[in-house]
Amino acid sequence: MANFATLSTQGGKGHGAHKFVKTQTERKAIMKTSKLAMLVLTIAVALFILLPSLSWAGDDGATLFKTKCAACHGVDGAGKPAAKIPSLVSDEAKKMSDADLAKAVTEKPKHAGIAKSLTPDQVKMVVSYIRSIQK
Ligand code: HEC
Repeated sequence: MANFATLSTQGGKGHGAHKFVKTQTERKAIMKTSKLAMLVLTIAVALFILLPSLSWAGDDGATLFKTKCAACHGVDGAGKPAAKIPSLVSDEAKKMSDADLAKAVTEKPKHAGIAKSLTPDQVKMVVSYIRSIQK
């Protein structure tokens, strides 16, 4: 401790230039730290904005159905017989098990595009939404 005290007094008195260089280095270090802090903050803010909206879309079978399925099957799920798009609220569809429905969603060639954009959880949500509109 005694050595440190001597050094810092010397630095203060006789080595002004040296002290200046050191301050510059410290300043750079502070800049680096604050740039890093900004980066971390930016990522945190981005996650804060992105995550709730992602999980919001994923939490809502109705929204999923409207955005991913309604274009073909209709908002009410009645399908378009003229375009050979089956009803999802027909008696046949009601007889399908949840697993059948999920399989149809993920495996039908007609669904190749949307199936890729759905997580297994989202498939379950959309299936339970179909169940809710079948009642
Ligand atoms: C590009 C138009 C299109 C989109 C988008 C679409 N479907 Fe389909 N879907 C079809 C067609 C066409 C069939 C019939 C094809 C077949 O049987 O091979 C079908 C069949 C189905 C079936 C089987 C019904 C039955 O009676 O066998 C289910 C269940 C289904 N779709 C659910 C969904 C769900 C849920 C979504 C949204 C995640 C969706 N579809 C999005 C066109 C579409």
